[in-house]
Amino acid sequence: MLDALKPQPQDKILQLIAMYRDDPRTQKIDLGVGVYKDATGLTPVMRAVKAAEKKLWEDETTKTYTALAGDPAFSAAMVGMILGEGFADRAAAVATPGGTGAIRQALELIKLAAPGATVWISAPTWPNHPSIIKYLGMAMAEYRYFDEATRGVDFAGLMADLAKVKAGDAVLLHGCCHNPTGANLTLDQWAEVVKLLADKGAVPLVDLAYQGFGDGLDEDAAATRLIAGAFPEVLIAASCSKNFGIYRERTGILIALTSPERKAVVQGNLNFLNRQNYSFPPDHGARLVTMILGDAALAADWKAELEEVRQNMLGLRQQLADEFRRATNSDRYDFVATHRGMFSRLGLSEAQVNRLRDEHGIYMVGDSRINIAGLNAKTVPILAAAIAAVGG
Ligand code: LMR
Repeated sequence: MLDALKPQPQDKILQLIAMYRDDPRTQKIDLGVGVYKDATGLTPVMRAVKAAEKKLWEDETTKTYTALAGDPAFSAAMVGMILGEGFADRAAAVATPGGTGAIRQALELIKLAAPGATVWISAPTWPNHPSIIKYLGMAMAEYRYFDEATRGVDFAGLMADLAKVKAGDAVLLHGCCHNPTGANLTLDQWAEVVKLLADKGAVPLVDLAYQGFGDGLDEDAAATRLIAGAFPEVLIAASCSKNFGIYRERTGILIALTSPERKAVVQGNLNFLNRQNYSFPPDHGARLVTMILGDAALAADWKAELEEVRQNMLGLRQQLADEFRRATNSDRYDFVATHRGMFSRLGLSEAQVNRLRDEHGIYMVGDSRINIAGLNAKTVPILAAAIAAVGG
């Protein structure tokens, strides 16, 4: 049976991890996978996470199963963090293994409810979005998103393409910190998108993997809150990997907003999907998040550290934009300072990306997406000079 298997294409982001690891050069720079690193290159365990883990080790008396949906306290805490007050009677939710698990369950829920629905994705988007949609055999369409010339959002193209969305189609939107481009809609533009899609009768699927990495914890949820208030049905796939720094704990949530009358049935379907795919979701990371969000002192410390992380990335963005001005004698990379989140797509050719890797030991995704947090004050000028050297 297994003889019939064909080799699978490697994930372009994860492939870079192995290539970087196997590169013997000591001066190499990793700007690949979206993992936060501090100035020393470490992905730290956040202080509040450590404190919660210590307390959990002392207090936890059982490891028995939680519930198919995970701990309801986790769902309540996450709905509160993402949406604020007032959604409890509309929000069905399940804990999932990371943000990817939430995306997968969201797509499965769409497939279960509306097998013929088309899922719209931004061009470009995180490569795993189309990969999972294709794997599930769902219909897919793209809407324009990125303007290669300005490295900003192609808003006219986006609106023109979303005007073709049909009632009942699902539209995958990056709630903040667009991956891979780093270019984001303004709140006014979001309002226009919301109006257009609500008039069409579309169902938004919000991918919220970087809340707190862009303009702030509440600011990064603003678009999602706008959407939540404007549509009768909304799916939100959120990750705690980045903002809590608990990547390997696989902590995420799928929230499905519906009417209070439909909530029990929707919740039952979410539970069913968890049962089919992995039964009980992982609990450790979810429990830490619940403890942190439910404890004023831990929450304050976590928010303070998250803010340091965000400010560090903003500082690196400004420094990089300044260095690009020096290295290229132009302002064409100023967009790096206005992009938000971990990523910026620089607009280099694949040949330039390959030269950066081969000649300079600088690793970025083939579409020239860089992880800003892979840089530090010393490597920023090295990157800018190397890009100028390959004609960028
Ligand atoms: C990324 O885009 O680099 C992250 O979301 C990590 C991943 O799983 O691809």
